[in-house]
Amino acid sequence: MEIVPLPTAADVARLAADTIEGLVRRRAADGQPAVLGLATGSTPLPTYAELIARHRAGTGPSYAGVRTFNLDEYVGLPPGHELSYLATIRRDLTDPLGIPPELVHGPDPDEAGLPTAGERYEEELRAAGGVDLQLLGIGTDGHVAFNEPGSSLASHTRIKTLEEQTRQDNARFFGAPDDVPHHVLTQGLGTILRARHLLLIATGESKAEAVATAVEGPLSASCPASVLQLHPHATVLLDEAAASRLERAVHYRFVYEGKPAWQGL
Ligand code: PGA
Repeated sequence: MEIVPLPTAADVARLAADTIEGLVRRRAADGQPAVLGLATGSTPLPTYAELIARHRAGTGPSYAGVRTFNLDEYVGLPPGHELSYLATIRRDLTDPLGIPPELVHGPDPDEAGLPTAGERYEEELRAAGGVDLQLLGIGTDGHVAFNEPGSSLASHTRIKTLEEQTRQDNARFFGAPDDVPHHVLTQGLGTILRARHLLLIATGESKAEAVATAVEGPLSASCPASVLQLHPHATVLLDEAAASRLERAVHYRFVYEGKPAWQGL
């Protein structure tokens, strides 16, 4: 795992955007448009704004043929609800980048199909050839996607119940805390591990404890984000506040500053 402590959240957004654009360009050059795994929540928004600004300025890559897969989705919202993660990712990223809706995927929360929704999403991911680069956030309780503490480290896409802490954390997006759904569909930790590159981003003091537990603590279902320790290519981009509880921060900075330019992330 590579830990990259950076001075500010804007630095995290720029480096995450560079990494995503680099992948999109490399895959296009190979004639195989990239498959991007996308995260919702507040943390990726500056990264998405950076990608959109570069696209509008004409300095970004072509997104022709790029397919995207969301990590998770609320269950129980009316179809097409503006706070569904599919509507959110279209508004915040894929529509502005010109990626057509049919190439933008998410778990299907339709009530009637719920028993098979997880397996159908796994099949969609397999049919796309898997995810090249999966962007991840981290919850204050150490969750990734909606895999709450206790989630199997080998889990696949399935329905889950949100922790009360997560519902409170997400209440800011809804009119009232009670409006936050209790159930979600989420890629499992085993699903996420199949992506070829994991890029976790975290900013702000509220994430510092979860980040330290995930990257320096033991591998444990009690901290789902610790599953990144099992992945052969996982990168963690942090601002100063999110890196503030790391014991080995000095070493991580030293390693990053000394990297040869050709190595990339
Ligand atoms: P946030 O959420 O980016 O809104 O903090 C992250 C998460 O819950 O995974």
